[in-house]
Amino acid sequence: MKYKELSNGNSIPYIGLGTWKLTDRQLLSELIGAAYEKGYRLIDTAAAYSNEIAISKAISENGINREDLFISDKVWNTSRGYEAVRKACQTSLKKLKTDYLDMYLIHWPASMKLYPNWREINADTWRGMESLYEDGIVRNIGVCNFKIHHLEELKKSANIMPVIDQVELHPGMNQNELIEYCSREKIAIEASSPLGNGQILENDVLRKISEAKAVSPAQVALRWEYQKDVITIPKTSDISRLCSNIDIFDFELSDDEMRMIDSIPYCGGIGLDPDEVTEFG
Ligand SMILES: NC(=O)c1ccc[n+]([C@@H]2O[C@H](COP(=O)([O-])OP(=O)(O)OC[C@H]3O[C@@H](n4cnc5c(N)ncnc54)[C@H](OP(=O)(O)O)[C@@H]3O)[C@@H](O)[C@H]2O)c1
Repeated sequence: MKYKELSNGNSIPYIGLGTWKLTDRQLLSELIGAAYEKGYRLIDTAAAYSNEIAISKAISENGINREDLFISDKVWNTSRGYEAVRKACQTSLKKLKTDYLDMYLIHWPASMKLYPNWREINADTWRGMESLYEDGIVRNIGVCNFKIHHLEELKKSANIMPVIDQVELHPGMNQNELIEYCSREKIAIEASSPLGNGQILENDVLRKISEAKAVSPAQVALRWEYQKDVITIPKTSDISRLCSNIDIFDFELSDDEMRMIDSIPYCGGIGLDPDEVTEFG
């Protein structure tokens, strides 16, 4: 596995296992066992995925040492603000049966559609995140779905800036402006839905490159992201896909192939605008 160094000197694996929609205990146990054997160390979960307990069971059933994993979790939208985020973190730690998280992320910024005081809410939630980091309960703190204006606002009150912004990014959704901004600000980018939620894999450009290279379209997408220095967390419920998704370090995309993928128009994904979303629950 290759690791990316974060702005605080810690490291994160370039590829991890996404677990959104994976709730079946038996399946999660099989997937996590196979993932660990294949070299995955990063598991991406969230309070909202309702699978923290199942993940904890899967880890112990497979006899995996906690310290050999990089567990990334997220605080949900119903736990905004200093006290609520600290409490939510404790609940997640209990469910995961661990006393620390490797990464803790704010799942969504407060939406300006719902909250005229979204700036203050995000600042107060972030203060809670910083306190968890200072207490040593979480080893890295970051955000998800933050756009440039959310990060610029956060900068005004933050003592520590996020080490990561996890955002939807995949062929057809390049996030070039955010990548440039985050690179300047030393914030790593992690792609959620790196395969466009599975919807981009029939794209002709990806298919042609994958045939020429004798790899899968998913591997082409994940390699494109890796060559852009982006961390990825593909989700799959299939062990053979899980095994091939991590095998992207022994082939390379040429500059021309990178450019061809860069110019794919939007062809599917989650497509939610963080400024437009109303609360999910
Ligand atoms: N922070 C956020 O707001 C946010 C939002 C979305 C996602 N995420 C995180 O990012 C992770 C990944 O995103 P995602 O779950 O939306 O989707 P994704 O990883 O982009 O795509 C998953 C889909 O692609 C299919 N797939 C996976 N590998 C494949 C392969 N090699 N060949 C063909 N199909 C393949 C999967 O089907 P099978 O399961 O049938 O293989 C599934 O339908 C999530 O699980 C979650 O951890 C975070």
